[in-house]
Amino acid sequence: MSKKQYRVALIGHTGYAGQVLHALLMHHPEVEPFVITTRNADAAGARSCAGADVVMLATPSEASRAWVSALRDAGHKTIDLSDAHRQSDGVHYGLPEIFGAPAVGADLIANPGCYPTASLLALRPLLDAGCIEPEGIAILGASGTSGAGKSLREDLHFSALHDNVFPYKVGEHRHTPEIERHLGAPVTFVPTLLPIVRGMLVTAFVRPTAPPDVLLDALRSAYEPHHWVTVLPKPGSGLGVRHVVGTHQALLAVGPIERSGLVPVFAAIDNLLRGAASLAVHNLNLWLSMPPELGLPPPRLDLPDGPPPMTRMLP
Ligand SMILES: NC(=O)c1ccc[n+]([C@@H]2O[C@H](COP(=O)([O-])OP(=O)(O)OC[C@H]3O[C@@H](n4cnc5c(N)ncnc54)[C@H](OP(=O)(O)O)[C@@H]3O)[C@@H](O)[C@H]2O)c1
Repeated sequence: MSKKQYRVALIGHTGYAGQVLHALLMHHPEVEPFVITTRNADAAGARSCAGADVVMLATPSEASRAWVSALRDAGHKTIDLSDAHRQSDGVHYGLPEIFGAPAVGADLIANPGCYPTASLLALRPLLDAGCIEPEGIAILGASGTSGAGKSLREDLHFSALHDNVFPYKVGEHRHTPEIERHLGAPVTFVPTLLPIVRGMLVTAFVRPTAPPDVLLDALRSAYEPHHWVTVLPKPGSGLGVRHVVGTHQALLAVGPIERSGLVPVFAAIDNLLRGAASLAVHNLNLWLSMPPELGLPPPRLDLPDGPPPMTRMLP
């Protein structure tokens, strides 16, 4: 067997995002992953990453902040899945379809959050094309429980969430300033929790400056070269999270203009893949100048237009 080209150290492999990232790295044809088990986010901890071409952090914010500092001091290149540096000046924000590849000489990539990934993929091209107003954008998010990580929480108990759906952290979700910074516009963001494990659907209500067809064309032309983003002809059951769970795909759609003057724009993604682990691998590939598709689920080239078939296997 030929030797793999790169060694990647993974910190946080026992968490939800870390487990998925570990599995992807294990199957990556050019990456040899090794897991770091120490919790010492200091010089000694950084020494345990010796030999890594890149260190990947799938740890909570506070832990990531300490790890990034120690790893930078030790001269490591790092991809951080937490929000510790997503709003730091000079740090590459790794959403490839919008912000491109990281500079070869960069030392840190901030991997975007799941809601921001879905929201920015849906809205940035529309704002950039000037076909929606930057004021009055409202975003309704609906996510499965894995988005909260594996820690125990009362509102995540089976008895609290089964047969239920409710909003959480309204007005104080940490993804609101992250979306605003990288969108370049203020937003009202309301996240809701669904009684499902994985997947998220984001619905943004925007004020168009052109008919919905123009919005649809702006999305189609922005993502024409990007095969992991699919723009559906219209919203419907083809936009369900079961079409994206287990994939790196983002499904987008634009609804009709309503009497209120607002147009709904949609995005569905798998929070643990496109919103975390596969996005991190996508960034890793681009950073190390590997073909972007290495180690990632293949793009979906069809247009789902109905309920998901029962044959679709969920990982
Ligand atoms: N879940 C998602 O959908 C999602 C999406 C996008 C981004 N993210 C981000 O990805 C990161 C991980 O999220 P998650 O949902 O996977 O969280 P999680 O399930 O709570 O896992 C956290 C992981 O970090 C480890 N850890 C905690 N403190 C550590 C320290 N000081 N040093 C080393 N390891 C430490 C934990 O180890 P133990 O098992 O030993 O406790 C565990 O492996 C978070 O920053 C989160 O915001 C998550």
